[in-house]
Amino acid sequence: MKISRRKFAQLLGAGAAAAVARPAVTFAKSATIDSTDGLVSSATVRLSSNENPYGPCRKALAAMDHAFGLSCRYPDKHADALVAALAELNGVERSRILLGDGSGEILKLAADVFTGPQTKEKGGGRLIVADPTFEAILHHAQLGGAEVVKVPLTSSWAHDLAKMSAAAKGGLVYICNPNNPTASITRKDEVRDFIRQLPNDTMVLVDEAYYHYADTPEYESVIPLVADHPNLIVARTFSKIYGMAGLRCGYCVAQPATIERLRARQSWDSINIMAIAAARASLADPAQVTNGRRLNADTRTFTITELGKMGFKSIPSQANFVMFDAQRPVVPLIASLKSRQIEVGRLFPAMPNHLRLTIGKRSEMETFLAAFREVTTASAT
Ligand SMILES: Cc1ncc(COP(=O)(O)O)c(C=O)c1O
Repeated sequence: MKISRRKFAQLLGAGAAAAVARPAVTFAKSATIDSTDGLVSSATVRLSSNENPYGPCRKALAAMDHAFGLSCRYPDKHADALVAALAELNGVERSRILLGDGSGEILKLAADVFTGPQTKEKGGGRLIVADPTFEAILHHAQLGGAEVVKVPLTSSWAHDLAKMSAAAKGGLVYICNPNNPTASITRKDEVRDFIRQLPNDTMVLVDEAYYHYADTPEYESVIPLVADHPNLIVARTFSKIYGMAGLRCGYCVAQPATIERLRARQSWDSINIMAIAAARASLADPAQVTNGRRLNADTRTFTITELGKMGFKSIPSQANFVMFDAQRPVVPLIASLKSRQIEVGRLFPAMPNHLRLTIGKRSEMETFLAAFREVTTASAT
């Protein structure tokens, strides 16, 4: 059968339209962990990586469905639109936002630019971190040859900002607030004072990956301080409350000169078009944040209460995970739980008897609690 060019184009158009009109339900189904790929068994309860078990909002799923048709295009215009939305959300100029391939990319760029002997920062750009904290930036800095100084958390699980400040001497201070793995916060007045007194030649990166889960008046974002502090970088992610860990999208807010120094080390177009589509749609759906917060808070309270009844004390949590005193070395505990198909947080060497547990769905936490009861009872007898 002979088909005219015009007819062919019409058919193609119909195909594309059908693809775009495909209902978002395809994604909704696959949002649950699939056993068919052989990577994760459907029976596995994954409470190890502080992911959001509810996934992206439906609007984000639909936006990705529509974005299939854009896959052949570079994402620059869409990235610009996401930057504009983030600038509006945070009340800053667009020139103060840099997108990242996850906020992990932002941490890497900050380590590359501001730490190590090759940087122009005073003192060879050492990195100052809390202990324990999220280690990614530490690995990047060490690879670049930087000296890393670890400052233990205080007895209330806050960053010891006085000691971190004394150790800084130029270079980069990393403040994770709320902190991973302890889920604890460093109080807003302390962070504010720290940033105000820090010399301009010392950079500070405040990682607010878990910002949306914090619900105490003692906590606040430091994004408004960027206006007056050229040495401040604030990192955020779409991996947590927006449920997009597998899509990879994050960003930072900083003054334009800092943004340009970070951008100079970044791959071009490093954020993919699917992630951008999902991120833009997520920002347009504020219910994703309120629902996510509420579901997490309810299940977190349930988990902490049940652990308490069993005699295990948790550090007060301001995040989507909890760290509790397991009263025994966690390494064998992690292995016993894994043999029951329950994945929990890794060992944090500074706290060898504490277990980090992601808050999953209520049913997942019930499965964990039953297994944990079994494992700890067996090892006690
Ligand atoms: C404190 C903190 N910062 C950054 C990240 C990296 O997040 P992303 O998925 O945006 O790279 C994580 C991931 O768990 C984290 O806990």
